[in-house]
Amino acid sequence: MASSLQKLLDNNRTWAQNMEVLRPGFFKHLAQQQSPKYLWIGCSDSRVPANEITGLDPGEVFVHRNVANVVVHSDLNALSVIQFAVEQLKVEHIMVVGHYGCSGVMAATRGTRIGLADNWLRHVQDVRFRHRKRLDHLQEHALEDAMCEMNVIEQVGNVAESNVMQDAWMRGQSISVHGWIYGLKDGLLKDLEVSVTASDMVGPVLSRAYKRYPQQTSTE
Ligand code: CO
Repeated sequence: MASSLQKLLDNNRTWAQNMEVLRPGFFKHLAQQQSPKYLWIGCSDSRVPANEITGLDPGEVFVHRNVANVVVHSDLNALSVIQFAVEQLKVEHIMVVGHYGCSGVMAATRGTRIGLADNWLRHVQDVRFRHRKRLDHLQEHALEDAMCEMNVIEQVGNVAESNVMQDAWMRGQSISVHGWIYGLKDGLLKDLEVSVTASDMVGPVLSRAYKRYPQQTSTE
């Protein structure tokens, strides 16, 4: 145990030394301030690290991650991150980033009990219930992929409807919210084209996005 952790500390020393050689003064400069342009709201999954997959350095992206990249209006943690990013750091883009094969979304979709997180994942089950006419007829894999995408779309809506974002747009701040999804199998990010750049765009953007999943009139 100790030796596996020691390896991480050794890796860190090597990394810091290499960075200083490649870019002298990198840490000294960063220690004085951060000015990221992006807020990344993603899943905690270890396979979806924000900086690595976007090629961004320390200091370039502010990050919030939780199980299944959910943004709930009563979650003071997520809301505090969003407020700090928007009002203090003045980020220009917020991206909600889901990923295919998300264990949290799959557990919510299948109704699998996993423990305390069941309560958290109720929010994802709510997404499925709200859009059941568009989703329930899909076969297993198609349903899971659609749920991963639909969950991102819903969370983009939640971010955009938050008072932090509404106030920012009211003030005339230039900031947009985007929905992306990451493929674990190919390492590629896909833009779900649900970008919201103004308060009155939320409804139209979401309505257009939902149309990707045609409603089945035969199901309740
Ligand atoms: Co996940």
